[in-house]
Amino acid sequence: MTRRAYIQTMGCQMNEYDSGKIVGILEDHGYAAVDDPAEADLVILNTCSVREKAVHKVRSEVGRLRFLKSGRPGMLIGVAGCVAQQEGAALLDREGVVDLVFGPDQIDRLPEMLQRAERRERVVENQFRPAGEYNFIAADVLPGRLAPTAHVTVQKGCDNNCTFCIVPHTRGREINRPADEIVAEVRELARRGVREIILIGQNVNSYSTESTGGPDFPRLLEMAAAVSGVKRIRFTTSHPKSFDERLARAMAEIPQVCEFLHLPVQSGSGVVLEMMGREYTREDYLRKIRRAREICPTLSLSTDLIVGFPGELEEDFELTLSLVEEARFDSIFAFAYSPRPFTPAARFEDQVPEQDKRRRLATLLETARRIGVENAQALLGTEQEILIERVDARRGQATGRTRGNRLVHVDQQGLSPGDLVLVEITGVLDHSLRGRSIRMAA
Ligand code: SAM
Ligand code: SF4
Ligand code: F3S
Repeated sequence: MTRRAYIQTMGCQMNEYDSGKIVGILEDHGYAAVDDPAEADLVILNTCSVREKAVHKVRSEVGRLRFLKSGRPGMLIGVAGCVAQQEGAALLDREGVVDLVFGPDQIDRLPEMLQRAERRERVVENQFRPAGEYNFIAADVLPGRLAPTAHVTVQKGCDNNCTFCIVPHTRGREINRPADEIVAEVRELARRGVREIILIGQNVNSYSTESTGGPDFPRLLEMAAAVSGVKRIRFTTSHPKSFDERLARAMAEIPQVCEFLHLPVQSGSGVVLEMMGREYTREDYLRKIRRAREICPTLSLSTDLIVGFPGELEEDFELTLSLVEEARFDSIFAFAYSPRPFTPAARFEDQVPEQDKRRRLATLLETARRIGVENAQALLGTEQEILIERVDARRGQATGRTRGNRLVHVDQQGLSPGDLVLVEITGVLDHSLRGRSIRMAA
């Protein structure tokens, strides 16, 4: 009998990618994915712990599942991802309703873990796998129909020590995936109709397999771009300390590589950057993006910022605002600093009061919104290539993204997901653009 599984994904692209593999493995083992947890025999929460709010969300979801399970006694509940990795057995002890807890390094063992959970064994698997034993799961497990855009992981973990960040604790040491595995996954996805590949990792531009005779990241981009059927390549996240001209050149010169760079700066204050352990200065960052724009003039830039890091003074925050004005990001992700267990900054003195964090966040978001809209208005009347991601037949509208990662809505006019279309930008909306299609692109 087919069993039904519901997977809920929180957190970043790493978790989205892992969830795709989890669904694939489950489908290979007799499960069908469903959209409603109330119909499921197995529910897996793929969790995030990067900020405290994310962990609260996990607790409230487990609470909801406790209620569901009371009416479905045979239901199994699994917790995966970064909270599972971080809390392990303590999570199982605290949340009696949970049947299995497994970290991101253990996903390939899911069938065996499920058999044990079905026998009512306690399942906690959150060991990290060292480089030689780590298993990047291949794309052939991926289920059914695929979207025009897909993620491909190039590395796992992180070797940096940003003092605010829990990720090195939840994802372990950086392990770079062999290039032949990456290219094989890209090839498999392209064969199944994927047009745009997003290479993901915590610091993709530190990717290197040179010690084993393999490529570095710019060379890896070339290899992925050479796969037949791949129309676009994106990558995220890059770290400013290892961002160099070669990567800017790859964006300018390899036709498939989109001119879009997500380069998290975190703060505009040198003092705060130093306390964060980011290993670059405000000036380094501004110099690097200036140079990147010289090499690749159509570059679109986005960033992550944290406000209210311990010790951040009003004048440090002003420096963040002035950096945002100078860098003129197309979009930003901004967060109030959230103290995380196991991180040095949680123990720093001078924690910033919550109301100051909230005020700074609102000011920062408003500044960035204004600049984002000004940048969008500069696109009015220009021609942009968009890759259609979805179609809303009821509204007669198709939606795609420019190479610079902006959402554009156009009239559907026979367009389907995966089509590459040349459009003229005709309007600026709150979080997207309006366009008029001119013709299909190559
Ligand atoms: N590896 C990427 C990098 O170095 O920028 C980002 C990883 S993290 C998953 C995504 C973003 O979450 C970070 O860029 C940072 O802005 C934010 N973040 C991480 N820890 C945080 C914390 N303790 N409080 C608030 N925001 C945090
Ligand atoms: Fe976290 Fe820093 Fe690693 Fe990014 S580079 S994942 S912010 S420790
Ligand atoms: Fe969250 Fe883990 Fe990603 S903490 S942001 S799911 S690496």
